[in-house]
Amino acid sequence: MTRATGPDGSGQSAALDNLLTEDRAFPPSEEFAAQANAGAALYDEAAEDREAFWAGQADRLHWDTRWSQVLDWSDAPFARWFVGGRLNVAYNCVDRHVESGHGEQVAIHWEGEPGDTRTITYADLRREVSKAANALASLGLRAGDRVAVYMPMVPEAIFTMLACARLGVTHSVVFGGFSAEALRSRIDDAEARLVVTTDGQYRRGKAAPLKSAVDEAVQHTPSVEHVLVVRRTGGEVAWTEGRDLWWHELVDGQSEEHTPEAFDSEHPLFILYTSGTTGNPKGILHTSGGYLTQAAYTHHAVFDLKPDSDVYWCTADIGWVTGHSYIVYGPLANRATQVVYEGTPNTPHEGRHWEIVQKYGVSIYYTAPTLIRTFMKWGAEIPAKYDLSSLRVLGSVGEPINPEAWMWYREHVGGERCPIVDTWWQTETGAIMISPLPGVTATKPGSAMAPLPGISARVVDDTGAEVGRGGGGYLVLDQPWPSMLRGVWGDEQRYRDTYWSRFEGRYFAGDGAKYDPDGAIWLLGRVDDVMNVSGHRISTTEVESALVSHPKVAEAAVVGASDPTTGQGIVAFVILRGGSEGGDDVLAELREHVAHEIGPIAKPRQIMVVPELPKTRSGKIMRRLLRDVAENRALGDVTTLQDSAVMDLISAGLRGPS
Ligand code: WTA
Repeated sequence: MTRATGPDGSGQSAALDNLLTEDRAFPPSEEFAAQANAGAALYDEAAEDREAFWAGQADRLHWDTRWSQVLDWSDAPFARWFVGGRLNVAYNCVDRHVESGHGEQVAIHWEGEPGDTRTITYADLRREVSKAANALASLGLRAGDRVAVYMPMVPEAIFTMLACARLGVTHSVVFGGFSAEALRSRIDDAEARLVVTTDGQYRRGKAAPLKSAVDEAVQHTPSVEHVLVVRRTGGEVAWTEGRDLWWHELVDGQSEEHTPEAFDSEHPLFILYTSGTTGNPKGILHTSGGYLTQAAYTHHAVFDLKPDSDVYWCTADIGWVTGHSYIVYGPLANRATQVVYEGTPNTPHEGRHWEIVQKYGVSIYYTAPTLIRTFMKWGAEIPAKYDLSSLRVLGSVGEPINPEAWMWYREHVGGERCPIVDTWWQTETGAIMISPLPGVTATKPGSAMAPLPGISARVVDDTGAEVGRGGGGYLVLDQPWPSMLRGVWGDEQRYRDTYWSRFEGRYFAGDGAKYDPDGAIWLLGRVDDVMNVSGHRISTTEVESALVSHPKVAEAAVVGASDPTTGQGIVAFVILRGGSEGGDDVLAELREHVAHEIGPIAKPRQIMVVPELPKTRSGKIMRRLLRDVAENRALGDVTTLQDSAVMDLISAGLRGPS
């Protein structure tokens, strides 16, 4: 059997030939096009004068002081957008909508997992954010300080982010599914003064503790002065007097008035940690004016939001960048009415999402391919039981969406009438970069299609030359964009090395991509050692380090093997230390250890105990071969392998149940 090989020889593009014969296309309906926010002219406008185009987009925001220059790229790769401009991000997301007479509009329909609900209008949001800002200020937090947010999807998480933005405090949201150790390293790296958390969180119908992980983490984080705790589950918590504060005691009594101050366009808004190929997660830094401009513009154009009539729902968690840009900043800047759901999609039943769509009349729904494939597994009869006729735009993000899932989404969720926007972007890009525009683009199932107006992306070969139609290679961004990362927190060199050294003067995204014969872009997955498990980025080295930190493990190699539901699944090969037995209990212990070090999302799907690992003559682990083993494929080229008998040993040892 021959198979297509990705740019790294990984075989990630195995399905490529199928993709390239994909000739179904879905042009927009006339009715949709007639009312769409975006038109084809947007591409021409941006092509004519990119900076003027972005200046026009920045006018979506309220600036206290107008900028004097759109872009300063003289210190590339460090960009400054809307130079000299001053604004308050929270004012733009909250107050101005109240001032323009929309205070009674619902900002958030919050749906708790156990079924409790809260309705938060823009006027409520202004009160809550102002109180939280006053509370943070009372703790001595000032512009430039960092606050860690470790919370489930409760409204207070959003209030906290906006309160930080209001004060010029930089937030660092850490996904509530990460371990105490992962939280500790992120708090430490950012030197956060405050951690905001909850007593516990609801997951799959049960209350689980959360503050306990903060207690463990802050034992080793000298920067933390206080832990602010929202009561959510009412579970028991340990309490450190003086350090720990209840939200309802500190925040509820604060004044509902708070005057926002304008900050420089380049003032740091947030840090968000993401996995890279080496070492610790990187703190991706985003700033204010350019970030909010692109978040608002893309949310308007890609989702076609009509603030007076739409009900928008993005199913992401605020712990990821999608939650930052498409739950908090983009939608609120655009005065969206949105649904925020706390829990898991099958609690208490597998129709929960469709029940919510029906209940609130959701018109725009944005989710991840892994969830769509899960819905497919549960069966089309589940969404069929609900009235989904309010839906008019569907979005996808996080990993390549396979044409089967795309078609299923179109038929069983979108009733064959909703345009699907497959949006490619990254934590680093801050906002959507490549996507169809609904009402404009004739979409192909599985393709993100084309860079948005104002964005320039190309597919290049190993030497950096652009490939032609039908050609594949690496995705690069060859022009700066407003919501681009401004660096890696505390590590300027890592920023240059990771993103700007592979191809001179261009941003290397780490993704493989291909142009089809019509020039549409197809994303093919990561070309580096970053895995994508259910849309979550996890690096192979992170999991390897976690494994070798266990006393029974001598060596470990980790690969992402393709998985029908999660996109990739984590498969680990370990060499145990002399004397250790590789029984089921040890494997379970190792999986738990990884969960403890990183978080349950990083637990290997499978751990295989092996006598040796395949290495090149220079000692590099050949992950490609291990991926072949993990995916049960015939082995690829083993000629560079130091000892080719190793693979026979590994394969022999792996037949039979794992
Ligand atoms: C992948 C999530 C194909 C890609 C917003 C990227 C995608 C990584 C898509 C970023 C898509 C995201 N098609 N691949 N539509 N969207 N990816 O930082 O590999 O969590 O580099 O940002 O997800 O993941 P991150």
